[in-house]
Amino acid sequence: MATTSWNKRLAATVGKWSGSRAEGEVASYPGSKFSDLPAYKSLKNWESVGNMFGVKSPFFRTIEEAHGNFTTIKGEEKLNFAWCDYLGLNQEPAVAQAMKDAIDRFGPCTSASRMVAGETPLHHELEREISEFLGVDAALLFVSGHAANVSTIGSIMTEDDLIIHDEFVHNSAVIGMRLSRATTINFPHNNFDQLEAILKRERAKHRNCLVIIEGLYSTEGDVTDLPRAIELKERFGSWLMVDDAHGLGVLGKTGRGIAEHAGVDARKIDIWMGTLSKTLASCGGYIAGNSDLISVLKHTAPGFVYSVGLLPAMTAAALAGLRIIKAEPERVAKLHSHGQLFLSLAKERGLNTGICRGYGMMPVIAGDVLKAVKLWHGVFAGGVNPSLIIYPGVPLKAGRLRFFLTSAHTEAQIKQALDVTAAEMAKL
Ligand SMILES: Cc1ncc(COP(=O)(O)O)c(C=O)c1O
Repeated sequence: MATTSWNKRLAATVGKWSGSRAEGEVASYPGSKFSDLPAYKSLKNWESVGNMFGVKSPFFRTIEEAHGNFTTIKGEEKLNFAWCDYLGLNQEPAVAQAMKDAIDRFGPCTSASRMVAGETPLHHELEREISEFLGVDAALLFVSGHAANVSTIGSIMTEDDLIIHDEFVHNSAVIGMRLSRATTINFPHNNFDQLEAILKRERAKHRNCLVIIEGLYSTEGDVTDLPRAIELKERFGSWLMVDDAHGLGVLGKTGRGIAEHAGVDARKIDIWMGTLSKTLASCGGYIAGNSDLISVLKHTAPGFVYSVGLLPAMTAAALAGLRIIKAEPERVAKLHSHGQLFLSLAKERGLNTGICRGYGMMPVIAGDVLKAVKLWHGVFAGGVNPSLIIYPGVPLKAGRLRFFLTSAHTEAQIKQALDVTAAEMAKL
């Protein structure tokens, strides 16, 4: 979710608390009840807007079962487009078997930080294979992609430093920036002229500078201009961090991500971030780059040093998944052709896919929050389960459905999803 100004928007939605009180008045301290929190009031506001328009919340739907491309929700089978299972590895018996074997060998959990007592050979194998796959020296696993971003940005950057980031970077990067206390400036999405202007104006005032972008943006479905980002970071003596959570397995001919897509040496990206929870059908995250960076993180990143080692089953699943990607690049080709098919069928049906480039995630833009929620309900009732994203994840008037394609979808399923969506859109 693009969350650059999430808290600002939240604060604007619920208003601000005023803490002034007359002299002698008995102190009543704010925040003494959880229901006084701005976040609580904002939730209640959203609920009352939903009730006013008679629209049920589309969130927190419970999946009772999942098999193949289908999920069962409230006893009904839905054609699933809501999971980032880009290469269908979640459906792969070899991945599930690898998890079971790891549990048989190590038990469910090593119950210790890796530094202290939780290191296994599976961690080493996965870190080695991720770094080889990407084309860099080394990698380090974290218990989630979110933790990887927070801990890495929060530990290598300090208040003397500058972070400049695309306005649409993920919440985990934003939280890492706050933790670092570095000066933080964002630039309009994919606008590298603006990035250049900020670097010219601000770079010299700070010690280290980090530029943060994503490979493939998961709300828009568009791709960064990596060569331009590299040229700028080199010219202005900065580090470049790319969150390629949605790029792994999706971008590039063999799924190696944004550097392969752009035809650029992977080592030109100083900090690669990725997650195991999307293409790799597991849970966890990683940072990859040169061995100095990985040594620093291994000994200082709080979410690594002071957190449990990635569970053996998760590590083994991601390893099995990665080996399948290497052995079967045709899955990536299939995903790419599905993306182009989706775009052309959506266009034929007059659906708005914005600036999406056809890699893995396909948006269908509905409009304001109400329209997007209504569209989602109609499509869901029609037997298809896309993901919904509305304000503040995207601008107020740009609520949308997101269709996460997998190479395991069939062309008929993609057509079915678009037929249902176009019919429901026409009713709005
Ligand atoms: C761009 C991006 N970065 C980081 C993350 C966090 O990854 P994880 O869900 O594995 O913690 C996500 C997950 O949604 C993401 O989309």
